[in-house]
Amino acid sequence: MKKLTLQDKMRLLCGRNSWELYNANGELPEVFMSDGPHGLRMADGENGAVKSATAMPNLHMLANSWDPELAFLEASTIADDCIEFGADVLLAPGVNMKRTPLCGRNFEYFSEDPFLAGKMAKMYIEGLQSKGVGAVLKHFCANNREFDRLFQTSEVDERTLREIYLPAFEIALEAKPWAVMSAYNPLNGVYAAENEWLMKGVLREEFGFDGLIMSDWDAAHHSARMVKATVDLRMPYADAHMAELQEGLDSGFITEQEITERAENILRFIERAKKTPKKISLTKVQRHENAVKIARESIVLLKNEEDILPLKGGNIVVTGSLSAQPCYGGGGSAKVTTDYKCKSMEEELRARIGDAGSVSGTSVIIGDDKDPLMNFGLKRGYKSAYGKDAVIIFAGTGYCESEAHDRTSLRLDPLQENYICEMSRYNKNIIVVLNSGSAVDVSAWIDKVKALVLLGFAGEGAQEALADILTGRACPCGKLAETFPISLDDTPVGRGANTMVDRYKEGLFIGYRWYDTSEKEVAFPFGYGLSYARFDYSNLVVTKQGETDYEVSFTVKNISQTEAKEVVQLYVRDVFAMVERPFKELKGFQKVFLKPGESKTVQMKLQYRSFAYYNVAMKKWHVENGDFEILVGASSRDIRLRASIVIDLPFETQNSLFY
Ligand code: GLC
Repeated sequence: MKKLTLQDKMRLLCGRNSWELYNANGELPEVFMSDGPHGLRMADGENGAVKSATAMPNLHMLANSWDPELAFLEASTIADDCIEFGADVLLAPGVNMKRTPLCGRNFEYFSEDPFLAGKMAKMYIEGLQSKGVGAVLKHFCANNREFDRLFQTSEVDERTLREIYLPAFEIALEAKPWAVMSAYNPLNGVYAAENEWLMKGVLREEFGFDGLIMSDWDAAHHSARMVKATVDLRMPYADAHMAELQEGLDSGFITEQEITERAENILRFIERAKKTPKKISLTKVQRHENAVKIARESIVLLKNEEDILPLKGGNIVVTGSLSAQPCYGGGGSAKVTTDYKCKSMEEELRARIGDAGSVSGTSVIIGDDKDPLMNFGLKRGYKSAYGKDAVIIFAGTGYCESEAHDRTSLRLDPLQENYICEMSRYNKNIIVVLNSGSAVDVSAWIDKVKALVLLGFAGEGAQEALADILTGRACPCGKLAETFPISLDDTPVGRGANTMVDRYKEGLFIGYRWYDTSEKEVAFPFGYGLSYARFDYSNLVVTKQGETDYEVSFTVKNISQTEAKEVVQLYVRDVFAMVERPFKELKGFQKVFLKPGESKTVQMKLQYRSFAYYNVAMKKWHVENGDFEILVGASSRDIRLRASIVIDLPFETQNSLFY
């Protein structure tokens, strides 16, 4: 620090290029940052090529595993590619809330619920940093759409921010990520990357974050304003950014001391990047195997009429425009390039079904049946399905899901919907495999098919994992981390506001908080997923251990002949409150492995924040005395056990309305 001139310090705040920090002409070590959450995305030369790396399940599918240990495994697997290619820092994970299923980057985020997202992100960060690769928690905050993301203000009231859009960051910060990345959008009229209340007030002072804050790429608009907000690093480098710092100094808007403080933070970041021991522990094959394992635990069985799954054999056909090569990941900065050669779904199924059946494939280009050329192809598809024991149709949104734009509809394109409906006229045994990165409106065809499996963007191991599930080698145990609404009209945001300001007028009520409180039917609820096994829940005991400390225990039993895993969920309901609260909120979950007939007792703890809401008048998290319900469920809409408790805190903590 002593050797750095003021110019050096200013350069430090501006980075070196698109991916590196300033190295003071060799005086400082080189630090390289790279995307992305689903695997290393590192530029390979200047022509836009990207190095090949292991393509892991996208975060929306990882979240469907409801297993924080797998988040650790995913990130620690990606870390090996980072170390191999020399990336000191991975620009991940993203924890933005899924306010609308139309958001183009939902495949890159975990959930509509901040508790689940936070717990998964925390272990992801621990997994990455356990190997000496830095994590960058992003995008802070309220970056919940891609539409006009650099200019449209997210206008969010403080209680909604505190209870919905900040908690996933708060929980993930417990893993001490080396850095936090600002969001693109203005928050309440001030760019996130220049928002002193958000970055200095909330992130540094309230949440106690002592790491580096960087802007998203081109998310800062004046370097001096960024420094004022205590954001350390503006990416990527541009000469003008230096000039703006000089302008800020000359005008007295910022001081040399403020620049020095930011530069010191960057030096500490460089030191961590270079001093933290890095260790590769997995071969390339093992990394792939981890991709398969996580995908297997994340795939969600959404419908299984007449137990058509698992496949018992017989004549099976695989078809659909994505069957030849499913989309294994979304687009934009998170798009990973893998050199893994996936086998076709037919090959994977044949390898598992063997002589018990035959598997054929007709990967049809699904075009318009008014088009004679296309019509022939479609007819070929229908013919291939006639008389078969099972017809597996891959359908999905494909690469339309990506950073920089949102979807305009929740439905599949009409040609794919039409193909599924037409197919059902020739064969009733249809199994749809959904290859999409976010919720889909399935209403046009769901009643025409016997089974629906959410494959999502499940990485390079998707087909192997899916084949294990479809043939019963593995039992599906994923559950939805985001609600599948019946239609876009049922969602809290609908098509969204394309105005200068996007006011979050639905407040706290996003995802299941919206559907529960507005008592709307949904296609598939938050926390829902079927299994080949069946489970019995019993014996709920809630033990008071302190004023707001409770232990919840209950028994889960596998009452089937199939070994399986079950994701159990714990929700809390504040029956009466002085403010409006969601009907119930997730406050605990666990994934339990159970052999046939096996029972296990699950224990979870509830504490102050499990019952509290953020009281803006009191400027703190507040628990109101009164009745609370403890709800244990197999999904948010399948509550198996419930108990009531009464919280009775001292007079001085309460208000007069209910006390
Ligand atoms: C992108 C993304 C961010 C990414 C960064 C670098 O625009 O918003 O998530 O890490 O720029 O590619």
